[in-house]
Amino acid sequence: MYIQQVRLTNFRNFANAVVNFTQQRNLILGRNAQGKTNLLEAIHILAVGRSHRERREANLIRFGEKFYRIEGVFHHIGVRNVVEITYAEQRKRIRINGKEVRPIDLIGFIGIVISSPEDIALVKGSPGIRRLFLDMALCQMRRDYLRSLQRYLRVVEQRNQLLKRAQSTGRLPSEMSVWNAKLIEIGTAVVRARLRYLAEIQDRVEANFRAISGTPQLVQLAYSPRGYRIDNEVDIGDAIGEALESVLDAETMRGYTLVGPHLDDFVFNVDGRDLRLFGSEGEQRTAVLALRCAEAQAMKAVTGRMPIVLLDDVFAELDEERATALRALISDFDQIILTSSRAVGVDKEDINVIEVAGGRIVSG
Ligand SMILES: Nc1ncnc2c1ncn2[C@@H]1O[C@H](COP(=O)(O)OP(=O)(O)O)[C@@H](O)[C@H]1O
Ligand SMILES: [Mg+2]
Repeated sequence: MYIQQVRLTNFRNFANAVVNFTQQRNLILGRNAQGKTNLLEAIHILAVGRSHRERREANLIRFGEKFYRIEGVFHHIGVRNVVEITYAEQRKRIRINGKEVRPIDLIGFIGIVISSPEDIALVKGSPGIRRLFLDMALCQMRRDYLRSLQRYLRVVEQRNQLLKRAQSTGRLPSEMSVWNAKLIEIGTAVVRARLRYLAEIQDRVEANFRAISGTPQLVQLAYSPRGYRIDNEVDIGDAIGEALESVLDAETMRGYTLVGPHLDDFVFNVDGRDLRLFGSEGEQRTAVLALRCAEAQAMKAVTGRMPIVLLDDVFAELDEERATALRALISDFDQIILTSSRAVGVDKEDINVIEVAGGRIVSG
């Protein structure tokens, strides 16, 4: 899968732009604040329907304008697909080859992995950021996960409503047990898929980490359930069920669900220590890059299709050895689009250079 062209109208600082990419290596070059990340953001939106860094759609519309439009031309084994996303009057429309589709129909249609400086939050940030990583990776690879996750989140919402009712009436509605059973059943499926995914990327993350850092450290990703314990995969449902019973009073007091995969997390351990607490900045950056590369590798292994890989400014933070190691690591990936403010260490013969300045494509 690769993107051949993107067309932007009123997106961020681009009034109108057309950018062409090659199937292999592409470099978006430009000084700070010229629109490099905005371009990657547009491609990311085409692939999964949402920005990797902005929740509010309105902020993506060019200042002073009323709508944005992004169109991408993709190719996969000889098939050409056009994805178009417009946002106007607080409504987003997604079309694939001219036909309107729902956001969930888009996810997984084009595989994408993005690594950006904000990724450091995958180590340092809140659990929600790591859950989003797991969910985005899994949703792109597995339709059944996407459906389970959607159903699960709806169950939590329903259950929260019942808990709020219990909070104000002082009595637990009788349907509660039905929703508990659903939470346990669907929640278990979500947790199992996440555990399997972590197992799938574990060795890759470790190998990538060693390759980039050049040191043979032991890297482990440990799933970290909130409010319950996982002793073995068979008993996950029982563990969630027991935990739900024990937190019921707290839940009715607070009015929301306190146990389940919507609160779970995972931890990076390097040589047995939590990277969040004990890792140097360099180790944390290396871990995050190792994770993103593993995400791409696993996507290829599971779906048979290498995703488009977007690397936003990742080489800027790395020393020369690590940068060289990362280049070697990604040398067998398919399409890569990277951004940089300097054309250092790139051979312009082998790379398609696209220069941006002030929201315009000045060459490429
Ligand atoms: N909605 C918007 N309308 C117009 N300009 C925007 C909008 N959102 C961001 N920008 C501008 O885009 C620029 C940043 O672009 P970005 O792609 O993040 O830069 P970089 O090239 O450093 O990656 C800033 O000058 C910012 O003001
Ligand atoms: Mg940027």
